[in-house]
Amino acid sequence: MIHQLVYYSRNTVPGGDRQMLTNLREIVSASQRNNSRDGVTGFLIFDKTWFVQILEGERARVTETYNRIARDNRHAAATIVNVQDVTARAFPNWTMGGALRTLEVQEIYLAHNIGTIMEPAKLKSAQIIDLALDLQAFEQAKRQGQRLAG
Ligand SMILES: Cc1cc2nc3c(=O)[nH]c(=O)nc-3n(C[C@H](O)[C@H](O)[C@H](O)COP(=O)(O)O)c2cc1C
Repeated sequence: MIHQLVYYSRNTVPGGDRQMLTNLREIVSASQRNNSRDGVTGFLIFDKTWFVQILEGERARVTETYNRIARDNRHAAATIVNVQDVTARAFPNWTMGGALRTLEVQEIYLAHNIGTIMEPAKLKSAQIIDLALDLQAFEQAKRQGQRLAG
């Protein structure tokens, strides 16, 4: 059984898009290092005000990863949306994918009924996972395009 945890938190690092992107890249690179060691996969959605993250893996590893993340002062008020055991990982190939909410992906959010101002407290975990899967597909297609173009 795979343990899956979904939470959201409020970003506490101020700055413009460039600063936010740097912040996100730092978080994602530390995550990839630790999560590959711990067998944790998932996805991190960052809409500039909110982080929404899905963590999946062995229960003890997911719990210790979440406890470490919750202490990070780059965000505050981490709130668990849902924990459940699932038969398979939703993000098997991502030690931690990250997507910044930019105009480019606005339509994807709107297609999931998430308006310009996201209200994570109103989101259901299934809705979050569906959004993250679409963002992941978009990121993958973009990378593929870059490789072909390069
Ligand atoms: C929103 C957010 C999500 C994070 N996600 C992860 C994660 O999935 N895995 C992880 O190891 N660290 C994650 N971190 C970073 C941890 O809080 C912590 O800085 C890091 O694990 C420390 O790693 P180190 O001791 O290898 O430097 C996240 C931090 C934030 C703010």
